[in-house]
Amino acid sequence: MRLAGKSAIITGSARGIGKAFAKAYLLEGATVAIADINLEAAEATATELGDKAYAVRLDVTDGASIEAAVKAVERKAGGIDILINNAALFDLAPIVEIERASYDRLFAVNVAGTLFMMQAAARSMIARGKGGKIINMASQAGRRGEGLVAVYCATKAAVISLTQSAGLDLIKHRINVNAIAPGVVDGEHWDYVDALFARHENRPRGEKKKIVGASVPYGRMGRAEDLTGMAVFLVSDDAEYIVAQTYNVDGGQWMS
Ligand SMILES: NC(=O)c1ccc[n+]([C@@H]2O[C@H](COP(=O)([O-])OP(=O)(O)OC[C@H]3O[C@@H](n4cnc5c(N)ncnc54)[C@H](O)[C@@H]3O)[C@@H](O)[C@H]2O)c1
Repeated sequence: MRLAGKSAIITGSARGIGKAFAKAYLLEGATVAIADINLEAAEATATELGDKAYAVRLDVTDGASIEAAVKAVERKAGGIDILINNAALFDLAPIVEIERASYDRLFAVNVAGTLFMMQAAARSMIARGKGGKIINMASQAGRRGEGLVAVYCATKAAVISLTQSAGLDLIKHRINVNAIAPGVVDGEHWDYVDALFARHENRPRGEKKKIVGASVPYGRMGRAEDLTGMAVFLVSDDAEYIVAQTYNVDGGQWMS
């Protein structure tokens, strides 16, 4: 029960990695806001995870929605101890075909969403005076470019940079900001990525997943549960002296 009595908000946690983090935090004793743009899915997830989970509608691209979600957590749980910036979008296109609308959408969710959620949570944490912990979800895609994935890679590089700046600025308030950079994690997100690669690389569905899984030094794609140990550790008291870092949890895909 390393998170007993703590209040967490996890963006984009109706499914996938965020949902696995919610499950892990609940097991450690936290109360968790399942904050997602898909309220129906968030409600189903909260119901599945039990009474210490509750759904909050949140669109991280909308300032009013962010404020409302923060207020909802303050009302429900007395404040925010932990924020996980997990919501993100993916897209794929060769440089000559990237559409501005796709660029705008990805930067709005992945970068501006991360920054303004951190800002709102940090304001709330500072007013409460108890510090806090923030994890931003980066990616191996933020460590280097990829021919077809320019925009998503750029957003995740920006998340690593924002983690460094926010980490340095907020630690004086005893708010630790760090990031996790997963490699390839199987689930609905990667089903979608696989379908995009199938179209752009003219492959049968499922082939790209097999290729990337085989390329991971560990020998398989990740599972959301492979990330939960780091996600619990980084928001626990044991991580108090860790500031502005990005940790790879990727089966050995990227070495730093
Ligand atoms: N799955 C992977 O292989 C992988 C690898 C590296 C990094 N990541 C990162 O991990 C995080 C979680 O990935 P996942 O695979 O679970 O993704 P996912 O697509 O399964 O889940 C994303 C969630 O975010 C929600 N969302 C989308 N837009 C939103 C918005 N504007 N406001 C609030 N919620 C919104 C969606 O409804 C969904 O529930 C993301 O930041 C992703 O970039 C994933």
